[in-house]
Amino acid sequence: MSAADSGGKRMLGVLGAGTMGVGLAALAVGRGQRVVLVESDDGQRAAAPGRVRGQLRTAQLLGALPREQEPGELLVTADLDELGAIDPAAGAVVESVTERADLKGDVLAAASAAAKDGTLITTNTSAIPVGELAAAVTDPAWLVGTHFMNPPYLVEAVEVVRGPDTGEEAMTAVHALLASLGRRAVVVGDGPGFVSNRILMRMINDAARMVGEGRAEPAALDEVFTDCLGHRMGPLATADLIGLDNVVDTLVVLHERTGDDAYRPCGPLLTAVGDGRLGRKSGEGFHSYGGVRA
Ligand SMILES: NC(=O)c1ccc[n+]([C@@H]2O[C@H](COP(=O)([O-])OP(=O)(O)OC[C@H]3O[C@@H](n4cnc5c(N)ncnc54)[C@H](O)[C@@H]3O)[C@@H](O)[C@H]2O)c1
Repeated sequence: MSAADSGGKRMLGVLGAGTMGVGLAALAVGRGQRVVLVESDDGQRAAAPGRVRGQLRTAQLLGALPREQEPGELLVTADLDELGAIDPAAGAVVESVTERADLKGDVLAAASAAAKDGTLITTNTSAIPVGELAAAVTDPAWLVGTHFMNPPYLVEAVEVVRGPDTGEEAMTAVHALLASLGRRAVVVGDGPGFVSNRILMRMINDAARMVGEGRAEPAALDEVFTDCLGHRMGPLATADLIGLDNVVDTLVVLHERTGDDAYRPCGPLLTAVGDGRLGRKSGEGFHSYGGVRA
């Protein structure tokens, strides 16, 4: 695949085919874009095409993605060199691998070396400062934080993080990328957890701790937020949607960078992850979902 044979279509490289990578691929394919989905795990790679198709179908049924749009081509691969086919003027790379700084650093270094110069590279990190990850890429001016929410096809706004080294051209390119996906940016400053997770993660941690202390059952705790406070979801249902393993990883990132004990992952969260109760993706978390979700 090369820019020349891409028929003028936009191309998106997505790194990691987990909860978010699959969702991002479905969003882009559903907008007619060609997607190169890079995943290192054999099982995740094998499952990815079916999961992308499933999300695309759901999104179209809900009217969240255009039904009349011919889906873009999806290539699932372990080979980062495929990113070299992206035309910087009509494409970008979104990194969405596991929330570990060392791992993201390695993947971003390899991806930025494989992509053409001047290709926008974004990170979907939940909490690692963009300025910290910038040390890994070949040109920090082209790195931006794009914190998509789950599922990407349903949530229209994206928390965009401008790092200390991010250039003006990259900010223009990120707005073009999001517009091509039918999303819009809410731009915020850099720092652990940005805006969303600096606040949300301590709330989830506290909610899980309170369940452990027996103050409320998960259903009642969430109902206080939905039915009494009018929130769309309670913190425990939100944690289940994110994935409890990812919540723990994100709390660790925040705790290490702030030293604030409010972010130290609490016992009930660690127990759930240790038992394989990861939330919606495993079918069981603080709530039950009657089977594994895509
Ligand atoms: N889950 C959410 O709601 C959510 C929302 C916003 C942002 N995020 C962030 O998005 C990123 C991904 O989260 P997720 O929930 O999809 O996690 P996940 O665990 O579901 O998926 C991560 C994927 O990355 C793959 N991976 C690991 N190392 C890799 C490598 N070297 N090359 C290619 N693939 C590799 C894993 O095999 C896995 O499939 C994280 O940074 C997370 O913090 C998650």
